[in-house]
Amino acid sequence: MRLIKFGFLVLALALVFAVAPNSAQRRSNNETRINALLSQMTLAEKLGQLQQLDGEGNGNFRPEHRELVRKGLLGSTLNVRGAQRTNELQRIAVEESRLKIPLLFGFDVIHGYRTIFPTPLAEASSWDPTLAERSTSIAAQETYASGVRWTFAPMLDIARDPRWGRITEGAGEDPYLGAAFARARVRGFQGNDYSRPGKILACAKHWVAYGAAEGGRDYNTTDMSEQTLREIYFPPFKAAIDAGAGTVMSAFNDLNGVPTSANPFTLTTVLRGEWKFDGFVVSDYTSVKELINHGIAANDKEAAQAALNAGVDMEMVSRLFNEQGPGLLREGNVSQATIDEAVRRILRIKLRLGLFDHPYTDEAPESGSLLTRTNRDAARQIAGRSMVLLKNDHDALPLNRSIRSIAVIGPLADDRRTPLGWWAGDGKAEDTVTPLAGIKAKVSAQTKVGYAKGCEIQGDSTAGFAEAVALARASDVAIIFVGETSETVGEAASKSSLDLSGRQMDLVKAVHAAGKPTVVVLMNGHPLTIGWIVDNSPAILEAWMGGTEAGNAIADVLFGDVNPGGKLPVTFPRAVGQVPIYYNHMNTGRPPEASNRYTSKYVDLPWTPQFPFGFGLSYTQFKITNLQLSTQRIRPDGKLAVTAEVENVGRRAGDEVVQLYIRDVTASMTRPVKELKGFQRITLRPGEKRRVEFTLGPESLGFYNREMRFVVEPGEFKVMVGSSSEDVVESKFVVE
Ligand code: NOJ
Repeated sequence: MRLIKFGFLVLALALVFAVAPNSAQRRSNNETRINALLSQMTLAEKLGQLQQLDGEGNGNFRPEHRELVRKGLLGSTLNVRGAQRTNELQRIAVEESRLKIPLLFGFDVIHGYRTIFPTPLAEASSWDPTLAERSTSIAAQETYASGVRWTFAPMLDIARDPRWGRITEGAGEDPYLGAAFARARVRGFQGNDYSRPGKILACAKHWVAYGAAEGGRDYNTTDMSEQTLREIYFPPFKAAIDAGAGTVMSAFNDLNGVPTSANPFTLTTVLRGEWKFDGFVVSDYTSVKELINHGIAANDKEAAQAALNAGVDMEMVSRLFNEQGPGLLREGNVSQATIDEAVRRILRIKLRLGLFDHPYTDEAPESGSLLTRTNRDAARQIAGRSMVLLKNDHDALPLNRSIRSIAVIGPLADDRRTPLGWWAGDGKAEDTVTPLAGIKAKVSAQTKVGYAKGCEIQGDSTAGFAEAVALARASDVAIIFVGETSETVGEAASKSSLDLSGRQMDLVKAVHAAGKPTVVVLMNGHPLTIGWIVDNSPAILEAWMGGTEAGNAIADVLFGDVNPGGKLPVTFPRAVGQVPIYYNHMNTGRPPEASNRYTSKYVDLPWTPQFPFGFGLSYTQFKITNLQLSTQRIRPDGKLAVTAEVENVGRRAGDEVVQLYIRDVTASMTRPVKELKGFQRITLRPGEKRRVEFTLGPESLGFYNREMRFVVEPGEFKVMVGSSSEDVVESKFVVE
């Protein structure tokens, strides 16, 4: 019987393989379908595919959208969500429009749809890309169930400037770490095949260099060498394209004099030419129209012309392609081939998504798919693994859960909105577990947990200080939760000061003065300047904005159920005046020296950061020793293995993120003092020792030379392995 069943299985599989088209066939079938559609489409219908509109107004579709869809004049919407609503609009597209081309529904699912995960910067602090793959894959399931098939994520902008509010949306300052997270997020959203149920289309954004906005001011100009672009800002995008990201979003910023939503070099030469990207590019919100403000287009017509000819396929919200397309075509300023190619790319992705065959979303599973226990548990685990222990003198943490009394203090201690951060999808404050709730659920029944807000996140009132101080005095330990509001991080939330806002620092000082052991928990999106706290608090936990389960995850870490193992993906400055400050800087001709005035530093502040890139402590201690290289000399195309021993020399199991850096000591171009080229997060029991191995090859050793060729140059290289960018053991080798 078993044998017969097995026989049937083999036969069935053989049939599936014989009948199901392979991917090359599927691609060519798709192109045939696109050609057939293109031959039937009017110019208006073609331009309609290039249009994306913001679909919700006061909770209703804008009535005009229904009409546009019916006439086949709208390709995509953003913000329309909920299976019933998307189906309603989709029905008009595929049943009432002439060519029945389905709509593509997009939404900003940045770190969760309904179950909100830690912000991307927080998640990058885990240095564990598998977590990002998991959170994005859960986000994809929830998004799919809600009728949306496209997320405007991952955000891949390298951010070396903590003033920039959107630093919270990305993976921080490093291209290697950024690329690892880019890959993981694209895989999580899309899987191998984004036409599968539960998978959605990703969008690599914001192409490109948006994170380098001058002065950290959002939307501002960027200006940089092509080397810096290629070595620092491109790698996460390249990783996303290689992982199969189906779409890319052009950014708001000007880049070296050519705005990125009209930049033929980035949109066509690099993306399509060098990287063979065959998906489509959507502009950022009204960034096509904004070309007029940038001053490279005198009017709507010139703006549409510049964006279309540079390689933008779909226009978000402004409508210049539609309004100006016919005239541009007539006058020969945009070719029919350019318009057709943009339509082709959009239809290609719609076909790959399976929208033509399955345009609707099953409405029944939606409510049961959101915020499930499993999803919440994943959010809690990921948040715990994302936290960074910044200080822990005399083992102040973890706390004992049967401690007699705890004072839970601060404006973020019982705030349900802030943990969701910026871009909280469809996340709801009422679902959030606050730190106060998490702590109450964690401690023993005998423990008295008192709460005092103390002050607001912003504002001048100190009216709540006395209560907070009294509570601290009456308790065995005070835990103070301070940070930022979700409105002061993210888009259009750049800051000129990174100090704690309002009276929060005064609250911390007042509670400290009460004389009880004090722990500070930071809940923030920007790196903050917290010098006083670093100098005076025994324990600091960077909890970021941890999502729906933030409070439980914070309690897990504070009470030692989770041993923190995160590391900073971004440098923390001592003062905003040090910005930009990042670990992979060039050496200068006069590198800083304490005893020499005429070296590169400040007269009023050390040149070093408050916390370096890659820094983070644990409740246990690790020793990294015995760095070995498989060879001392390699050829430019050769490889070498780097190994080091990591030992848990403390008394608890814990995680270390072992980091590998290199330095090309002398080259034909100046090179960074350190560049991350490998990392591994490993878990070790007390006393356990493990050898970790990394491989270095030409892709890690090369750079773009003066002719913009990627080369590995002969000469000496340093190799550094350690627990942060500052705490390393060193060796060296030579490229012959
Ligand atoms: C503008 C933001 O820059 C972008 O990241 C986002 O995806 C769009 N708005 C759509 O909401």
